[in-house]
Amino acid sequence: MAIISNCTASIIKDAAIALKQGHLVAFPTETVYGLGADATNKKAVARIYDVKGRPKDHPLIVHISSMELMDKWASEIPEYAIKLARNFWPGPMTLVLKRTDLAKDFITGGQDTVAIRVPSHTLANQLLEEFESLGGYGVAAPSANRFGKVSPTNSQAVEDELRNFLLGKDKILDGGQSQIGIESTIVDCTSNVPRILRPGSITLEMVENLLDIQISEFDAPNLGVKVPGSYETHYSPNANVLLNGEIIQGNGFIALEEIPTPAGAIRLGSPKDNDDYAKILYSSLRLADSKGIGTVNVIPPVMEGIGIAINNRLFKASNLKSLNAYDQN
Ligand code: TXA
Ligand code: MG
Repeated sequence: MAIISNCTASIIKDAAIALKQGHLVAFPTETVYGLGADATNKKAVARIYDVKGRPKDHPLIVHISSMELMDKWASEIPEYAIKLARNFWPGPMTLVLKRTDLAKDFITGGQDTVAIRVPSHTLANQLLEEFESLGGYGVAAPSANRFGKVSPTNSQAVEDELRNFLLGKDKILDGGQSQIGIESTIVDCTSNVPRILRPGSITLEMVENLLDIQISEFDAPNLGVKVPGSYETHYSPNANVLLNGEIIQGNGFIALEEIPTPAGAIRLGSPKDNDDYAKILYSSLRLADSKGIGTVNVIPPVMEGIGIAINNRLFKASNLKSLNAYDQN
């Protein structure tokens, strides 16, 4: 298992074959890197849980190459979900829908819903198309990190996280730095109005504007399942993350470029704007760990646009009890 760069058509085809044979393939998406397995192969999917160290009842997102394949996995799809799919796919949005028989309990964590996404990263899309041309229906892919840790946004970070857990025939495909840098927006489409279960770069306002409706702010999902994002310390580096906290000599520091580095702090990230903030956040947190820094001071961005999703991840990384309603427990 080594990182494969310069992914040609034949490399992508080999990776699709590996998936079809039940091996794991980590691949880039525009949000974060995913750890893929054939979503209809129980054994392959079980390996995802082993490699991640993730509890078995946590459902996975099924990735497909186009919305045409949605109804293989989902039934009773509401009009508004079609509209969302038409508008935001391929892209950083996941829809939760009623499942079909194809979506087994080992994908959905035993729920009667399934999460689906069409990613926009070219390599991801090519891999999914190849996989489907071999008769595959979809690729289950959580973020390619150990459970509770920071999602990887480049292939080296995947290797750092998973090298001790992947096997010889598994693969890591390199597709550069993930352009968005934080996980997809998850929209629950199982009732008459959509609900945002996880904020992302597709914002509440974007969904409201498209559908011309009001959605209550991050309505707390009450799905009766453990979703990883609901753990208070999800998305954590080894270092302590302190939001707006006291700065002590030797601490790491992440803030917008315009905010100067306080005396004695070690600058880990200087994003130009909020989009850039999302893009560099996880690699900056990883940098703290690789430098052996114990505490990182972070000045969060303002709570607007993608800033809401960044704050969501920062709250969780910081071990603080989240103030957000959509954070379950
Ligand atoms: O951007 C992303 O979404 C990345 C890339 C690789 O696509 N994937 C990702 O997967 O973040 P993961 O497994 O790390 O997070 C998926 C989230 C989890 O919180 C999971 O509980 C939730 O989606 N989820 C999956 N199926 C669900 C369902 N049926 N109902 C509610 N939540 C679900
Ligand atoms: Mg994850």
